[in-house]
Amino acid sequence: MTPASDRPFWDQRFSGSDYVYGTAPNDFLADVAARIPAGPVLCLAEGEGRNAVFLAARGHAVTAVDQSTAGLAKAAALAARRGVSLTTTVADLADYAVAPGTWSGIVAIFMHLPPALRATVLARAAAGLRPGGVFVLECYTPAQLARTTGGPRDPALLAGLAELRAALPGLDFEIARELDRDVTEGAYHTGLASVVQLLARRPA
Ligand SMILES: C[S@@+](CC[C@H](N)C(=O)[O-])C[C@H]1O[C@@H](n2cnc3c(N)ncnc32)[C@H](O)[C@@H]1O
Repeated sequence: MTPASDRPFWDQRFSGSDYVYGTAPNDFLADVAARIPAGPVLCLAEGEGRNAVFLAARGHAVTAVDQSTAGLAKAAALAARRGVSLTTTVADLADYAVAPGTWSGIVAIFMHLPPALRATVLARAAAGLRPGGVFVLECYTPAQLARTTGGPRDPALLAGLAELRAALPGLDFEIARELDRDVTEGAYHTGLASVVQLLARRPA
């Protein structure tokens, strides 16, 4: 277990009253949210709920999954403050079965997992989409190790475009790119960063 995939690490990080990644949604998700069809959305590794609450406010029935009880308690509190409802599920993604063929959207923002679990969760996500449903991902790439603007320091938790594409069988990629962009999203995402962005759709 590395710190960034360790539950006590995340419960500690989320233990304060501040939302450490902010309460605004991830920039990439906000840009592409209109491309998620109406219907239920699953947010994986959702932390304190900024993305889930944003999607719930857009009218989706959202389930947020994370290993951190502290994070999801803050997600529920943010949802209540915004007047939206959210289903929260505390689970290690290793043990979380994504219902197949069910979701209009599955969202993974800065979900950094060890390689074997990453492959398992991405395969479950691909299978979890209903026809026309989309998978949305942004995460740091290995190039981010040269920067000090956020993300795990363990190279095993970082993946690039080629690996991620290969791990999502049967989907059509509408966006699939690596880029450097300013990620200023809370206290731990603090500037120019090397990221990968995916929007991939299950054929209708
Ligand atoms: C950088 S935070 C991102 C949170 C959120 N997606 C966001 O963008 O604000 C990474 C999240 O991944 C979660 N996580 C890491 N490994 C996990 C695992 N094996 N099962 C469930 N959640 C995990 C952590 O608990 C943490 O909430």
